[in-house]
Amino acid sequence: MTKRIVILGYMGSGKSTIAEKLSKETTKKMVDLDDYIEKKEKLSIPQIFKTKGEIYFRKIERAYLKELLDDSTIAIISLGGGTPCYGDHLELIQKTENLASVYLSVPLKTLTDRLYQEKKNRPLISHLDTKEMLEDFIRKHLFERSFYYNQADIVIQTESKSVDKITDE
Ligand code: S3P
Repeated sequence: MTKRIVILGYMGSGKSTIAEKLSKETTKKMVDLDDYIEKKEKLSIPQIFKTKGEIYFRKIERAYLKELLDDSTIAIISLGGGTPCYGDHLELIQKTENLASVYLSVPLKTLTDRLYQEKKNRPLISHLDTKEMLEDFIRKHLFERSFYYNQADIVIQTESKSVDKITDE
């Protein structure tokens, strides 16, 4: 049986991009957890955070993660940045058979540059006005979250690597 893959990493680490590319190259089915949540809830992620709050989001994130993990026809899953860092989400991933977790590790500076351009639709950082504030936030947040990310089966250092190269790895 072919191994399935779950891709994790901080916001802006390229999870969806790599998952989509991998899906195209292998012709295997891929689902992005955030897209799946938005479709199921009929609301965007910022709308969910705004109207129902983060605790509600984490609750449904777990439920939808479980649905995707239980569906063995889905070969590639890209997670939200916080998915493996709450409740028993990481445990759910780790105990799914035949599934490899891959962490896309990206340096702070690169994440800050990318997310400064793309923070609008990310409720956890959209209020951080200056680049300095954003970098400060990411530094602490990434430090806390790395504990979870580093438990992935495979860690890919993505700095200076093309999308093709990362997908190959
Ligand atoms: C989050 C990351 C987002 C999305 C939500 C919360 C996080 O996904 O799930 O805004 O806690 O890091 P991306 O990593 O795709 O931006």
